[in-house]
Formats: sequence, C-alpha cells, structure tokens
Amino acid sequence: MGISNPNRDQSLTKKLFSLFLYALLPISLLSLYFYPIPFLPSTQTELPHSTIISHSSASSTPPSFTSTPPSSEKVETLDTPCDYFNGKWIRDRRGPLYNGTTCGTIKEGQNCIKHGRPDSDYLNWRWKPNQCNLPRFEPNTFLQIITNKHIAFVGDSMARNQLESLLCMLSTVSTPNLVYTSGVDNKFRKWNFVSHNASVSVYWSPFLVQGVEKSNEGPNHNKLYLDLVDEKWGKEMEFMDFIVISVGHWFLHPAVYYENDSVLGCHYCPGFNHTEIGFYDVLRKALRTTLNSIIDRKGNSIKGSNGVDVIVTTFSPAHFEGEWDKAGACPKTKPYRNREKELEGMDDEIRKIEIEEVESAKVKSSEFEGIIRLEALDITKLALLRPDGHPGPYMNPFPFANGVQEHVQNDCVHWCLPGPIDTWNEIFLEIMKKWKENPRIEE
Ligand SMILES: *[C@@H]1O[C@H](CO)[C@@H](O)[C@H](O)[C@H]1NC(C)=O
Ligand SMILES: *[C@@H]1O[C@H](CO)[C@@H](O)[C@H](O)[C@H]1NC(C)=O
Ligand SMILES: *[C@@H]1O[C@H](CO)[C@@H](O)[C@H](O)[C@H]1NC(C)=O
Ligand SMILES: *[C@@H]1O[C@H](CO)[C@@H](O)[C@H](O)[C@H]1NC(C)=O
Repeated sequence: MGISNPNRDQSLTKKLFSLFLYALLPISLLSLYFYPIPFLPSTQTELPHSTIISHSSASSTPPSFTSTPPSSEKVETLDTPCDYFNGKWIRDRRGPLYNGTTCGTIKEGQNCIKHGRPDSDYLNWRWKPNQCNLPRFEPNTFLQIITNKHIAFVGDSMARNQLESLLCMLSTVSTPNLVYTSGVDNKFRKWNFVSHNASVSVYWSPFLVQGVEKSNEGPNHNKLYLDLVDEKWGKEMEFMDFIVISVGHWFLHPAVYYENDSVLGCHYCPGFNHTEIGFYDVLRKALRTTLNSIIDRKGNSIKGSNGVDVIVTTFSPAHFEGEWDKAGACPKTKPYRNREKELEGMDDEIRKIEIEEVESAKVKSSEFEGIIRLEALDITKLALLRPDGHPGPYMNPFPFANGVQEHVQNDCVHWCLPGPIDTWNEIFLEIMKKWKENPRIEE
C-alpha cells in the first residue's frame, strides 16, 4: 500500500503534548486526532451494494406520508429493495424515544442533556433514505426478535455507544437487569430482559484480535497479534446469536503489529527498527481474522451452537474543527445538508475496507447458507452529516458554569444519548426484520 508519510516532524511537539495528555485523560481517544494520519489516495471505487435491504412499502411507509412524495418514491413497490444508507436528515418534531433521565445506562460523558447542553435542536431530526422511509425504532419488535437469544456488541467505545443507545430504547418497554459486569470502566457487561429472556452484552475489544493496549506503566504503544482473535470475546462466541462489531478509532494509535509470532511492522513507532506500514492493511487483517474465526467456529458448529447473524458497523467519523481542548471544537448545532460534506480521506478508506471485508466474508460463508449471515451497517455517510450530535464540551457537566475557561475538553467522537446514533439501531432493526423473514436453519 502506498502510504505517504506527511508532516511527521512538524507535529512532533503536538504529538508529545498529546501523549502526555494520555496520562491525564480518561478519554484518551481524543488526542489521537493530533497524530499524523497516513492517507491513501482516495479512490472513487463503487462499493458493492451490500446494504440493500428488501423493503415492503406496505409495512413501513407511515400513513402520514401520502402528500406528494418526491418522484423517487413513486416507483417504490412491494419488495423494492431500499438502500437505507443514502439519504438526508430531515426535521422531525417527534423527538427521541427516551431522554437523559429515563435510562439508567448512559455513560456520563455522553449524557448531554444531564450535563446541561443548552440546545436541543440536534434531537429533532430523522434520517430519510432516498427510496423509502425508515420506521421509528420499535422496541417491542426488537425484543421479539431477540427473544431467547443473546446479542453481543464487540469493539471499542463506539460499540458501547451504540449498545447504550439500544438499551435506552429497549428500556422504554422493558427493564433490563444488569447480570454481569467486570473490568475497569465496566468494559464487559451483560443485561437480561426477563420479559423476553433476551440477553444484551458488550465486550471491550478495540482491535478484535489479541492486543495489548498501551498503558502509562508499560509501553507507549499498542501491540496487536493480527492472526489471533481476541479470546476475551472469542471464547464466548459459541453463546452469541447476534454479533455487532464496531471498531476503527483505536487503529490510529501508535502500535507494533505481529503476525505468526514475528513482527510485521508498526505504525508510528520512532525508536524501533520496524517498518512503518500504516494501519489500513492492519485493520483489514484484523477484520479478516475476526470474520474468518466466526465463520470457522459457527459454521463448523460446535454441538449445541446455533448459527449467527453478524453486523459490522462501519466507521463513525469524528468532527473536530478546532483544538480539542478549547471551547468550540465541534460547535455546529445543525446537520450538514446533503452534499455539503463529502465522504473522503481516512473516513472513506476505513469504511471501504470494512465493507470489502464483509463482502468477502459473505462469499466465504456461502457454504453455510442459512447458518451464518453478515451485513455491513454502513452508517459512515449518515454519521458524517451530523457534526451537531457530539457531546463536545458537555462530556463534562456544566462546562461553562464559571464562564468559558482557557482549557475546555471536548469529545467530538462519541454521540450524545439520545442522539444520531439511535438511528444506527433503527436501521439495524430493519436488517433484523428482513433476516427474521428468512429464519436461520436451526430455528
Ligand atoms: C424524561 O422522560 C420522563 C418519562 O417520559 C419524564 O417523566 C421526564 O420529565 C423527562 N425529563 C426531561 C428532562 O425531559
Ligand atoms: C434463554 O435464553 C438463552 C440464550 O440467551 C437460551 O440459551 C435459553 O435456552 C433460553 N431459555 C429458554 C427457556 O428458552
Ligand atoms: C502467517 O500465516 C498465514 C497462514 O499460514 C499465512 O497466510 C501468512 O502469509 C503468514 N504471514 C506472515 C507475515 O508470515
Ligand atoms: C535495522 O534493521 C535492518 C534490517 O533488518 C538492519 O540492517 C539494521 O542493522 C537494523 N538497525 C538497527 C539499529 O538495529
């Protein structure tokens, strides 16, 4: 891969500064945006339409949508496939299903309402796919689909963000019991919806493969073993009926990469005699190892293990416009209009890799038709259009209570709850509903 090596020296001071901040910040992710990021030339390759979901107009077009629909919608007929991932954000006065107080599982730094975010306009938008309507999230339908099943979210803090959105929406109809928790910052948790004997869990595994995360005491870089799936979640794969994978941001950190017990290369590791190989190929390998191991283990089904439905949530772009530790780092209060912001650079590249790996896993799993299903939840574009949905300074409670300080921490990576990320789960439910029409063979 032709990875360029931009401006490393110029930003060294910033890098060291941000490395120092790692020691201070619980949200260490923020500082990675100061790392120089090797860009590949952005290619315009069309991606396979993995994301097209057959859609029935009869069941999902709300009755209110009868007044002169745009021409693209007139052609909609029963079972026309709907591409949920291209569209626009339109105003929606209904607001979210839940608020910052109704749900007991919102990470503090993402509870923007509770932390005093003054504007609420960001809550009043809904995603409108070009060809159809995206139904509002139906918690009862979701719970019905996962009745007697276990759905696991595996990945980094974006996986957790999506999980917490889902829990909040499901909580509006049934109360989950937290049945398991462990790890610093509750990195492994499991809830049970007694009403449906449904389990929802989250597994911290920011690389999916085995890794050693950088630490203040140990080395200042991550170590990744690209040929080995992370058994912290892998060993429980057998008990998972749905797996939602969401990773990306942690691959930007400095790291040394291993494959088959030898060093493959590294990303930003001055002082080591390793070849800089960037992180794109590495992300690809990690995903491939992960999806291959799911296909191996679930396909050649261990006795008693059912098949599995796998969702790969694509990369969720950050929206830093200014310095992360100054007021106004992500100041927008409205979505971008369609075409105002194009997908490009790293966001585009990571999304492309994720979708390609899902496509290639689909091919590999075709011999297990009806046992293993995979789909990309391709939210990168719709997320890109929502610079207004991040906590920004409201990652901390009432950040401006004493006026605007010189230093203000900002989170322009994660999403406020409620917020745009609720839409990821609305689309996820549509994929699940489609799958439900063709049950897995064991069911
Ligand atoms: C949140 O929702 C609950 C239940 O619908 C309601 O009682 C409460 O007033 C709401 N709080 C806010 C701040 O809107
Ligand atoms: C409850 O759900 C688990 C999976 O989470 C399943 O193994 C078990 O069989 C279910 N119990 C009943 C009574 O169906
Ligand atoms: C590691 O082993 C796999 C499987 O044997 C092989 O395909 C791959 O090329 C090896 N990688 C390296 C860097 O040797
Ligand atoms: C770095 O690696 C190269 C190639 O493996 C080797 O020739 C060189 O001596 C190494 N340099 C150091 C300082 O270890």
